[in-house]
Amino acid sequence: MAEFNQLSLDLASLSVHADDDLTLVADVASPLHVSTTYHYETDPSKLISAKERDIISSGAFIYSRFGTPVTQRVEAVLSQIVHGHAVVYASGLSAYTAALAYYNPSHLALADGYHGSHGVAAIFNRLSGLKQIKPYDEALGQGDLFHIESPINPTGESLDIAKAVEFAHSRGAKVIVDSTFAPPPLQDPFEFGVDMVMHSATKYFGGHSDLLAGILVTKDPEVAQQLLKDRAMFGSAPGNMETWLLLRSLRSYKLRVTTQAHNGVKIVEFLSKGLTSGELPVLTKVYHSSLQKEAFVTEQLNRGLYNPTFSIEVKTALIAKSLPSKLKLFHHATSLGGVESLIEWRAMTDKTVPDTLLRLSIGVEDVEDLIADLRQALAASVDLL
Ligand SMILES: Cc1ncc(COP(=O)(O)O)c(C=O)c1O
Repeated sequence: MAEFNQLSLDLASLSVHADDDLTLVADVASPLHVSTTYHYETDPSKLISAKERDIISSGAFIYSRFGTPVTQRVEAVLSQIVHGHAVVYASGLSAYTAALAYYNPSHLALADGYHGSHGVAAIFNRLSGLKQIKPYDEALGQGDLFHIESPINPTGESLDIAKAVEFAHSRGAKVIVDSTFAPPPLQDPFEFGVDMVMHSATKYFGGHSDLLAGILVTKDPEVAQQLLKDRAMFGSAPGNMETWLLLRSLRSYKLRVTTQAHNGVKIVEFLSKGLTSGELPVLTKVYHSSLQKEAFVTEQLNRGLYNPTFSIEVKTALIAKSLPSKLKLFHHATSLGGVESLIEWRAMTDKTVPDTLLRLSIGVEDVEDLIADLRQALAASVDLL
């Protein structure tokens, strides 16, 4: 299992080197290991039976559902950069499923946020009678779970993590934070005493819109061991190709995410100024954590780096549907976190949002080019008023 906080290096260096001592061959770039099975020692005296050792905690390579050389490398890198023991899964939602299975709460306090997490909670309701309650509901008690997503999907506004921790812990409940919208170095939910952190690694960690993955992070090595054992039984580790793509993506992680964060803030500034001055008359609202006034927001996103994904609202549903096709540098697509900027008429995938809402995920393109593109598309939309 991956150690963490052992190296006093910057995130950029850790992303490139935290798995150096796990190299099995002389390659500088990690090989892609495709095997699902690994041959045993040829010397019979070295064979250790499953009765004599725990397969998962031994870290031995036996069968790829239990762990692979690249899974170990990915977890070594992620553990360093997310400040806990990271366990990698086949998707963000399989990570969330593993967290609910681990905590097995009677009540789950769940605010709005990503609709898929609500879908997982509904399955647990069917299986075990798990009751979904509102955040800060008095029914939250011993052994329950408070799930907080911050910044929240799709608006990209922050929720108060410390407040959730205080409420939940005073009742004997645990707190999991979905930090997908603000991965490191934007936010570290462990600074506020949370019990577990999850990410859809499909987004910023993957960063190229070409892999699905998720992670759970815990400070407690025993919890991490149990998660690894559960994962081996659920069969929810990512496949060899995806794991390798994730490791490769992590090498350039800091460059990407910090560029995206800076670009995002500049674009939000452009949009909110245009809204206030009336220069962008089709806009009615810009949502983003950088526009929030509450003190906890800058405490959580404490490096001046804000989430690169956020939402806007426009005057009519027709404008919202049409704006994406007027943009040249934004793909009209769901998801977020990739190097390419995306815009989504969010009603395509989320039943809960107004049909005037568009979600933007800012990529690594030149920010002035992105602003110029948005300016021309918003200006062209005035004809639809
Ligand atoms: C905030 C958030 N959490 C979890 C997920 C689920 O991640 P995945 O698609 O990797 O399962 C998403 C996906 O969009 C998300 O936006």
